[in-house]
Amino acid sequence: MTAFAELHMHIEGALGPDLIFGLAERNRMHLPYDSLADLESRYEFTDLQSFLDLYYANLAVLRTADDFADLTRDYLRRAAAAGVRHAEIFFDPQAHTARGVPLQVVLDGILDVLAVSEHEFGMSTGLIASFLRDQPVHDAEAVLDELLRLRAPIIGVGLDSAEVGNPPTLFEDVFARARAEGLHAVAHAGEEGPPEYIRQALDVLGVERIDHGVRCLEDPELVRRLVDEEIPLTVCPLSNVRLRVVDSLGQHPLRTMLDAGLKVTVNSDDPAYFGGDVGVNFARLREELALTDGEVETLARNSIEASFASPARKEQLLAM
Ligand code: ADE
Ligand code: ZN
Repeated sequence: MTAFAELHMHIEGALGPDLIFGLAERNRMHLPYDSLADLESRYEFTDLQSFLDLYYANLAVLRTADDFADLTRDYLRRAAAAGVRHAEIFFDPQAHTARGVPLQVVLDGILDVLAVSEHEFGMSTGLIASFLRDQPVHDAEAVLDELLRLRAPIIGVGLDSAEVGNPPTLFEDVFARARAEGLHAVAHAGEEGPPEYIRQALDVLGVERIDHGVRCLEDPELVRRLVDEEIPLTVCPLSNVRLRVVDSLGQHPLRTMLDAGLKVTVNSDDPAYFGGDVGVNFARLREELALTDGEVETLARNSIEASFASPARKEQLLAM
């Protein structure tokens, strides 16, 4: 198989039970779980919010730059083993600053490891700061101010967390400012939210990719537009199953999307929470949707073309 890129993963979503217990011990913290098995028994989600509740609670163990470095290294090691050769990684600044962890500490930990990623794991990387759409817009503005003040070497901004009731339009100004600074822009839209949020992300936020976007299928005119404009959709099949966006992997609309001509990619979203990394997503899709070698090739090529890697790096990745 050709090399591929992962364009939709939250580094905080790579925080698995073992690391949670390890970091709690190192930081001398008490966890609200009786045992590893007790924690693992809670990975049963009914919707996006039920997952976000556990995801945010578990972040309490991330306190030092070393913690963020360990988390990042853990993700890169697993992703490289799964065949990922380029990764664009989200992080949620507000989820840490709100707990009293300085943004510089978060950046130091993640960036120290990303700096050696190509050498140690053969993976090029980029970091994307996501705004939490269920928090006040003012907080997103403050995060952008701080990122710019620190000259954080991020490649772009994103929009995540609880979607329904928190439309992209709220974030028009902060996205405009980020884009004016030369940053790429992406946004979660059409995961649980309606097709209208996908239109808003494109028209109001000026995003270059849509994260998830599966609900575009409810709006044929929007599908035509996404096809015509070759807007990449970073789809996360196992996430969609675990968060009940779709009933089962066998009923996932990935092939429908490919057949419609949409520029779809496959991603893990939060690999420690949804049953596996991007390699597992591909393996399960081969089993449940009978995804063919040709379709996997298309998805791999899409991921590289849709990435924000340099033209030279894209050429290199496509030739692998
Ligand atoms: N944050 C982490 N994973 C997410 C998802 N799937 N949707 C929205 N926000 C998220
Ligand atoms: Zn996501």
